[in-house]
Amino acid sequence: MKRTIICVIGTRPEAIKMAPVILALKENPAFRTFVLATGQHTDMLDQALSFFDIKADVNLHIMKDRQTLDHITSRVLVGTGEIYDKEKPDLVLVHGDTTTTLGASMSAFYRKIPVGHVEAGLRSGNLDQPFPEEANRILTDRLTTLFFAPTNNAKDNLLSEKVAETQIFVTGNTVIDALAWTVNEKRGNSPERMYSIPSQAPLILMTAHRRESWGKPLENICEAVQVLLEKLPDVYFLIPLHKNPTVREVIKKFLGNMDRVIFTEPLDYPDFVQAMKRSYLILSDSGGVQEEASYLKKPVLIMRNISERPEAIDHGTGILVGTDKERIVKETLRLFSNGTEYDNLIKRSESPFGDGTAAKKIECYVSNFFNQTSAF
Ligand code: UD1
Ligand code: UDP
Repeated sequence: MKRTIICVIGTRPEAIKMAPVILALKENPAFRTFVLATGQHTDMLDQALSFFDIKADVNLHIMKDRQTLDHITSRVLVGTGEIYDKEKPDLVLVHGDTTTTLGASMSAFYRKIPVGHVEAGLRSGNLDQPFPEEANRILTDRLTTLFFAPTNNAKDNLLSEKVAETQIFVTGNTVIDALAWTVNEKRGNSPERMYSIPSQAPLILMTAHRRESWGKPLENICEAVQVLLEKLPDVYFLIPLHKNPTVREVIKKFLGNMDRVIFTEPLDYPDFVQAMKRSYLILSDSGGVQEEASYLKKPVLIMRNISERPEAIDHGTGILVGTDKERIVKETLRLFSNGTEYDNLIKRSESPFGDGTAAKKIECYVSNFFNQTSAF
């Protein structure tokens, strides 16, 4: 009899990072792979899924405008539980650290369904940063049976929390699978063609969305961009705006009338990959973008105070700059003025986040799990 695996996804990064896993599981005839979308995101989730040609079997459509964490948690908890009761999964796979991740793990735990956590073991060590993601991932890992850690560092975090080594599998990060495939397939449109950016102009790609940056930190980020536009008269900024109105209102207010700032809606994944490749550097508070930048060997100035991805910083492509205006300006100008330092950054070794085979490994470990369930 086939084993039923429910893969739960709710937001854009979960869709992108679970897509390779879903596709690898679907290749295995011993599995019935069921995709459950919570709809924590609407457009951004559909956009990511459609690029990988994946359709959700069920979408709970929970998203509300300016939704609260309570709303997401309660709707995901109840909604996923109802689907588990109907579909009777042998394993639930969740990804990362969103509120979908936590809610879907809790409802599985209440039914004694084993949980596999993809991208397990990331820790910033501070419950406020990122908020609420650090709590989501710690709590999810308390309920997890199979830990798919992207790096040895993530594995060490789990070992230090007394997770049994037999339950931890270091796989690399599945975002590298998605990215490598997209790059190899040569998909996506160049930002020059899409937005008429002069071919010689240096481009800075910027994304920002984190909850802990709402308010003053996000305003600081925007003020830093204003200063940079003044000091770097040839540079263009490409800013694909997150759908969150709380974020886009501030960014539009501060940068809406500036020359050489191009706003777009969230880009299709391959177009975003092209934009990363075309950029001189990236300013971002995104988790996934830090990992992708290391593979593409692009400097990314991480607009956070701490990171749960020390590998990106050790690699050199990730530079932690916080949300202080002066610091963002200073570090950006430094990379524009110091060519040797920039050249050293872009000649870094291979990405510490894996080689693009994470999904296949996860599929094998899941298969082993079903063959030797008594070992766990
Ligand atoms: C969520 C995750 C965050 C992840 C991010 C990826 C939580 C608490 N946060 O943050 O960990 O890094 O996704 O992008 O799980 N909206 C739309 N359309 C969309 C998506 C969002 O209109 O397709 C708007 C809605 O008004 C929604 C708001 O954005 O209420 C916020 O969405 P939410 O999922 O709560 O938070 P994110 O900031 O997107
Ligand atoms: N991304 C995208 N289009 C965009 C911006 C980002 O496809 O306009 C991709 C990006 O390549 C990465 C993921 O979305 O794979 C990151 O998502 P986000 O920054 O929303 O979430 P986080 O990684 O911070 O949780």
